[in-house]
Amino acid sequence: MATDLNPSPRLLLGPGPSAVHPRVLRAMSTPLIGYLDPEWLGLMDEEQSLLREVFMTKNTLTLPLSGTGSTGMEAALCNFLEPGDRVIVGCNGFFSERMCEMAARYGATVTRIEKPWGEVFAPDEIEDALATGGPTKMAALVHAETSTGALQPLEGIAHIVHRYGALLMVDCVTSLGGTPLKIDEWGVDVAYSGSQKCLGCPPGLAPFTASDRAREVLLARKSKVPNWYLDLTLIEKYWSKDRAYHHTPSTTLHYGFREGLRLVLEEGLEARWRRHRENAEYLWKKLEELDLSFHVTTKNRLPPLTTVVAPGGADEAAVRARLRDEFNVEIAGGFGPLKGRIWRVGLMGFSSRRENIALLAEALREILGR
Ligand SMILES: Cc1ncc(COP(=O)(O)O)c(C=O)c1O
Repeated sequence: MATDLNPSPRLLLGPGPSAVHPRVLRAMSTPLIGYLDPEWLGLMDEEQSLLREVFMTKNTLTLPLSGTGSTGMEAALCNFLEPGDRVIVGCNGFFSERMCEMAARYGATVTRIEKPWGEVFAPDEIEDALATGGPTKMAALVHAETSTGALQPLEGIAHIVHRYGALLMVDCVTSLGGTPLKIDEWGVDVAYSGSQKCLGCPPGLAPFTASDRAREVLLARKSKVPNWYLDLTLIEKYWSKDRAYHHTPSTTLHYGFREGLRLVLEEGLEARWRRHRENAEYLWKKLEELDLSFHVTTKNRLPPLTTVVAPGGADEAAVRARLRDEFNVEIAGGFGPLKGRIWRVGLMGFSSRRENIALLAEALREILGR
């Protein structure tokens, strides 16, 4: 017989999921209603307009997709690329590699521009790639690279990409709600995120937005979108006046997500970005006091996710295990070239709190014997 569900009360300070706000958990225990109930349709409208505010966009095509952040990535690629289209991908971490893999599966021609993990691209490096190798359909970047802790500056990139007739697509999984992201002002055409990071909700929804320019590209496709479940021309029929059934949405996740968006806007975007930055700076100070250093330069460091160099002599996996087993604190290790070399500390959404940082710093002081 399986026993009662009773996981340890972990403090989630890893790359996600982050702690879910109690109000979100409460909203998720609300009784279900049907997916075409007029009251539900009203809640959907509210959810969409809250999401537009959080993305700082007026884009009509703005909605939460069913699925995790990778669903957003898949939708961003399969709807706007056709076989043979060229996509330029800024490769500087784990998630841009995933983009290359997905785009290739949809038959796109992938042009990689590369940087060491932890560095970011300058606008002229993106322009150099656009200027050579023929027409480009899309340039894709990861705004907040959770595998490296680097924040890719986006201002000034869209107008270059647009000059070459391409769309700018951006992965905002770890930036939405935690660090400045201005979809319309910055000219981003396609962006997606995940509910489980700085929005303080459980995993399962992928906030998504696409500009009118991107929508025109979608409507002008020569071939059908190759993924039925993520075909935005079908999904938008449910999220617009048609209200045509496409698939059954998770009522419970949407209840929670709507509450999460309300919380973001109650706090205010600017105040929320400031909280994430101030808490990250407090973490950096506390870790420096322990003689620890960082993988990413201060200028490019991502407030919601800090990569800490594991000190020589310490068994990084053993330190993480002790944090978990003795202090109930979760942080993560590195991927790929950073495996065994870094810790990843997330301060996202409801997890981004001063008292959490003080606990982590004290626990590390004890474990490392500093
Ligand atoms: C930057 C980035 N992109 C994409 C993903 C994929 O999201 P998910 O694991 O929710 O599918 C993640 C997950 O951590 C991420 O950090």
